[in-house]
Amino acid sequence: MSNQLTKVQELIDLRAQARLGGGQKRIDSQHKKGKYTARERIDMLLDKGSFEEFDMFVKHRCTNFGIDKETYLGDGVVTGSGTINGRLVYVFAQDFTVFGGSLSETLALKICKVMDHAMKMGAPCIGINDSGGARIQEGINALAGYAEIFQRNILASGVIPQISAIFGPCAGGAVYSPALTDFNIMAKGSSYMFLTGPKVVKTVTGEDVTQEQLGGASVHASKSGVAHFAVDTEEEGLELIRHLISFLPQNNMEEAPVVPCTDPIDRLEDSLNEIIPDNPNKPYDMYEVIGAIIDNGEFLEIHRDFARNIIVGFARFNGQSVGIVANQPKVLAGVLDSNASRKAGRFVRFCDAFNIPLVTLVDVPGFLPGTGQEYAGVILHGAKLLYAYGEATVPKVTVTLRKSYGGSHIVMSCKQLRGDLNYAWPSAEIAVMGADGAVEVLYSKEIKAVEDPEAQKAIAEEKKKEYNDLFCNPFNAAKYGYIEDVIEPRNTRFRIIRGLSQLATKKVTNPLKKHGNIPL
Ligand code: HXC
Repeated sequence: MSNQLTKVQELIDLRAQARLGGGQKRIDSQHKKGKYTARERIDMLLDKGSFEEFDMFVKHRCTNFGIDKETYLGDGVVTGSGTINGRLVYVFAQDFTVFGGSLSETLALKICKVMDHAMKMGAPCIGINDSGGARIQEGINALAGYAEIFQRNILASGVIPQISAIFGPCAGGAVYSPALTDFNIMAKGSSYMFLTGPKVVKTVTGEDVTQEQLGGASVHASKSGVAHFAVDTEEEGLELIRHLISFLPQNNMEEAPVVPCTDPIDRLEDSLNEIIPDNPNKPYDMYEVIGAIIDNGEFLEIHRDFARNIIVGFARFNGQSVGIVANQPKVLAGVLDSNASRKAGRFVRFCDAFNIPLVTLVDVPGFLPGTGQEYAGVILHGAKLLYAYGEATVPKVTVTLRKSYGGSHIVMSCKQLRGDLNYAWPSAEIAVMGADGAVEVLYSKEIKAVEDPEAQKAIAEEKKKEYNDLFCNPFNAAKYGYIEDVIEPRNTRFRIIRGLSQLATKKVTNPLKKHGNIPL
């Protein structure tokens, strides 16, 4: 064999060795836990054969506790670029078979390199997390490595989409990298995220709690809102990332890709003319409205199990990506509360950062009252959503279906928060409050002064009718130009599409500043 051929063979052998990560035994153990390896995950995520690996031969350079005797090519993370449906993305996947995927100085350098490339090239960055946290033997160098990653997460925020999948442990300060990214996907049963584990919780607070109860996928997807998605399998999670990416632009200077639309733009949806129940306190399902108006009913919901009184997600109108924000009358009557405001506020800001127009469907009776909400800071959380809509410069189309009362009317993308096209259905009630509350405030003394209960009832009904006739309709707002038009519900799809087409060239900039001070 020639010298050159020998060297080529050496390369091939080294590559094979690197592909084994921490060795076959540990790969088998990963599989036994029902988990895939870092390389298998990347293969499933990217277009076939598109992966271009970086830094396969990197080894850690720590000598503490004799770990220099144990080194692995690649050092616990697989990094590189590839494509998803032909579009460039950067990816890193922590390799649990090497020191439990724990983060060393060199491992952090590898992650930072793909993040830097993603920023330079203006492409999404996807991180797959499965790690025991800071590599204990590396001490402060591991912490410094985390901080380098967080700093990049922060600078990349709003510039390129950042997506995290959690397919194993993610604990301690390590949780802050996924928390800083735009979307978190967690696998049920095999992933967890918490700042302090069950043992420390027990010591400090005496509380007995399992990993799953403390920071499992279901908990974070439904209670804390840390996870945007909880998936049953890793395959589902990786397919979800591909789907999600299809709605997003590559970076904040580009538009999301437009896909050919097979759904007629002037499709009339007669069912919408009858969807609002006669009884104002009876709910209907906002998902039915969303499904009826978007292209082919294809809706990618974000945060499905968290704050279900508001719905957010991506859909398309005439092939164009939009962010949908919609009150859900079926859950808590569609009222806004702290969590709903946080959820929608962050989504609105994501869409605005990435040039994705917003379509808002309004049916909101107000903010949830009570000490629970006030003590939880609903004032600040509600202000987040208000702030997000008010600073957003993307095209904003708002349709009021039924209730739009008081402060929640303003928060839900009203005209004065620079809503571009505000439409209302004939069933809309755009007012300071509903008739019951208004009559109670304005006429309770007058009504109580009448002795006969029947007469009291009659006066109250009369006053409510007067109030409803005056305020609980869309025409009062239309009279002042606060809405552009009252539209037939069955024609909503067409009116939104034509509105978005009109707004395609919208250019609005906010005053120059370092950054705003959103109420946190
Ligand atoms: C070095 C680690 C490691 C770590 C795991 N390993 N975590 N090596 N540093 N942090 C190694 C193990 O020694 C083992 O090596 C292999 O990875 C697999 O670990 P196991 O314990 O066998 O796996 P499992 O039973 O599945 O348990 C996984 C685990 C557990 C729950 C993650 O390993 C664990 O508790 N690790 C420590 C977690 C931790 O406290 N990390 C520091 C957090 S502080 P072998 O050779 O046997 O395969 C932190 C600060 C970040 O992260 C701050 C950022 C700002």
